Amino acid sequence: MADSKRLYPRIGDRQTIYLKNVIDDPNIEVGDYTIYNDFVNDPTKFQQNNVLYHYPINHDKLRIGKFCSIACGVKFLFNSANHTMNSFATYPFPLFFKEWELEKKNVTEAWDNKGDIIIGNDVWIGYEAVILAGVTIGDGAIIGTRAVVTKDVSPYTIVGGIPAKPIRKRFNDEMIARLLKIKWWDWSEEQIAQNIQAIQSGYIKQLKYYGE
Ligand SMILES: CC(C)(COP(=O)(O)OP(=O)(O)OC[C@H]1O[C@@H](n2cnc3c(N)ncnc32)[C@H](O)[C@@H]1OP(=O)(O)O)[C@@H](O)C(=O)NCCC(=O)NCCS
Repeated sequence: MADSKRLYPRIGDRQTIYLKNVIDDPNIEVGDYTIYNDFVNDPTKFQQNNVLYHYPINHDKLRIGKFCSIACGVKFLFNSANHTMNSFATYPFPLFFKEWELEKKNVTEAWDNKGDIIIGNDVWIGYEAVILAGVTIGDGAIIGTRAVVTKDVSPYTIVGGIPAKPIRKRFNDEMIARLLKIKWWDWSEEQIAQNIQAIQSGYIKQLKYYGE
């Protein structure tokens, strides 16, 4: 049986991890079975290598749902990357508070805050895509390789490019509404296991539905 507490879900594969097992930052949450693959760096260093400009003092959050697939080199670029643009200087004076005899507590004034990054369930994020602060990506969405995602992505929508734009929806609106109601990722492991073939087939009639 699948076991999301395992670090390496595939025997002999040290490049693919169940991501939640390496997260110890209280401002990052990752759901069960979400995988991260990295063939360049150690995938267990995800917090350090992939969640960037994410300083504890800013309290911004990264929330990733269940059953997401995150490809090598995906980056989540947080608020401390955004030097403030309302000031006359983009130069981050508040960061060098000692140099300029400023109040340490005002350090976050060095950057503009665009908010948390929220990733839904069963989201597939392609190789080296960049997700910017403040973005929400809906369930079932796909982010193309090297996309720079600057705006929210609707559920079951494929986006690509810089800035990322919708390429197409994965299914028609009726099917998307049904899938969002079914939420198979919230089923028990047993229910999912019994439905793997139906989930894989893409024929909704084959799915057993466990909602009300
Ligand atoms: C996003 C992706 C899955 C879309 O696949 P698809 O729907 O089969 O896309 P198509 O090849 O039919 O292309 C559809 C359109 O999107 C464009 N497009 C596809 N991928 C794109 C990308 N990453 N960035 C920008 N545009 C892209 C195509 O040029 C095409 O444009 P057109 O309609 O103007 O001709 C795929 O292109 C992709 O990025 N794959 C890489 C996945 C990856 O990184 N995997 C890592 C291992 S998990």
